[in-house]
Amino acid sequence: MSANIYQQINEITQAIKRHSSIRPQVGIILGSGLGSLAAEATDAVEIPYTNIPHFHGTSVEGHAGKMILGTFHGVPTVFLQGRFHLYEGYSMDEVVLPTRVICALGIHTVVLTNAAGGINTRYRPGDLMLINDHLNLMGDNPLKGPNLAKLGPRFPDLSEAYSKTCLDVLSSCAEELSMPVHSGVYGGLLGPTYETPAEVRMLRTLGADAVGMSTVPESIAANHLGVRVAGVSCITNLAAGLSPRKLSHQEVIENSRLGVEKLHSLMTLAIPRLVKTKSVADVPNRAHALTENNP
Ligand code: HPA
Repeated sequence: MSANIYQQINEITQAIKRHSSIRPQVGIILGSGLGSLAAEATDAVEIPYTNIPHFHGTSVEGHAGKMILGTFHGVPTVFLQGRFHLYEGYSMDEVVLPTRVICALGIHTVVLTNAAGGINTRYRPGDLMLINDHLNLMGDNPLKGPNLAKLGPRFPDLSEAYSKTCLDVLSSCAEELSMPVHSGVYGGLLGPTYETPAEVRMLRTLGADAVGMSTVPESIAANHLGVRVAGVSCITNLAAGLSPRKLSHQEVIENSRLGVEKLHSLMTLAIPRLVKTKSVADVPNRAHALTENNP
């Protein structure tokens, strides 16, 4: 199984390098309804997932299913417009393959974005939450099974699953933009059902400020590889039981529009600064080491 994943990563990165000469420094994974950020990239090359070996098309509305390589405000960047979720029936290996691939392209920082339900009663639809930690409540872990030693250690440290440096950059950019943002804990659940009100109360007791069905596997896989993670949730709805309204994916997509412009402004200012805070002393990205001798 492990040799297979190394081969897949090699094969995919070689295919991508044939499409674009851009060698990205930053990766941005765009959540439900947040895909439009990639439109700001210049000299962009779009690769539909269906043209990428071992990738699947995306089945969820609001997830386009494209990789875009381009320059985002001066920074070579790779965007993933759409992700694979565990609830779609994919294995954890499949869910984190795109993350591992963009890491193998040489990025040093990945920004994970998502749509999430607000559990913290101060949160409103359209608010942004900088993720400062997560609760893995998915009942699974992408690193389960034999350790892929070329990718990272058996027991990776997750005490800074969301880089403090990145969080500081994002907070100071938000402040400069006079944009109020929250900082909180993301609870990652399997889905695809939204939560019951009792589960939302449980999640609050456990310390979650927002809840969603993604991001946690990607954060774990990137940390395993030695790639810095920043995370931003766009609060699209009050979590179940906190409003009289019933939840729907349609509402999530519609309300993501309330946060997407803020996300654009924040990323425009933050991405070039995130690049400046990367130090050569930081741990190396092991996925890149795996593939960099390939053309
Ligand atoms: N729960 C889980 N996932 C979500 C939600 C929610 O309320 N909103 C957006 N994604």
